[in-house]
Amino acid sequence: MFFDTHAHYDDDAFDSDRDELLAALPEKCVSLVVNPGCSYDSSLAAVRLAEKYPHVYAAVGWHPQDADKWDVQSEVALREWAKHEKVLAIGEIGLDYHYDDGPSKEIQISVFRKQLELAKELDLPVIIHDRDAHADCLELVQEAKGTRGVFHCYSGSAEMAREILKLGWYLSFTGVITFKNAKKALEVIRITPMDRIMLETDSPYLAPVPNRGKRNDSSNLPYIAQTIADIKGISVQEVARITRENGMRFFGLS
Ligand code: NI
Repeated sequence: MFFDTHAHYDDDAFDSDRDELLAALPEKCVSLVVNPGCSYDSSLAAVRLAEKYPHVYAAVGWHPQDADKWDVQSEVALREWAKHEKVLAIGEIGLDYHYDDGPSKEIQISVFRKQLELAKELDLPVIIHDRDAHADCLELVQEAKGTRGVFHCYSGSAEMAREILKLGWYLSFTGVITFKNAKKALEVIRITPMDRIMLETDSPYLAPVPNRGKRNDSSNLPYIAQTIADIKGISVQEVARITRENGMRFFGLS
């Protein structure tokens, strides 16, 4: 059985068949899903989905692309959601310097820092989104001593991975590692101990080969696991078992 530690089932892409798809996941060997939030609306939607399905859990947070929508009420909402038994983490939060028209670096850093502090206070792990912002992300995370977290869809160097692993943090990998140009990620997987790796699809985005370009869902996890199995010289079943256990330990599920 697989654990998809990051999938956006609140996305419009699932409007036509969300319920059938989620209900059928356990039959497709996916026994656990964490649906992260990116804004007020999507965090609320994630909580609602988690209430509806026993195998779905939620994370709540303001994505860097939504950092300019953060206000005093945002923290109140996060504190309230954090009391929910199916809310397991603060995320996805972080920095995204990819788009020129997004919120400014200053706003992103300030909102990221507030949510890191809140996660520490609430004793919840964090899910980090880091796109083209590696140095700043690492610095803020190192500064937030005592916070636990995962870099989702890890895209940094092996050198940075070593720093993240030193903090006791985790790395999670998507279908991107099955793409032809994934050399850097494969090197990172090579140096990352198996007990620090988690699997995720980031559905509906980033479908692995051979389904690249199509809408993604958690049933594509075996393709991602196969790439890791090949690098580590173990079976797909072993990758599924170990990464599921890692996810359960990280998110505090028993
Ligand atoms: Ni995501």
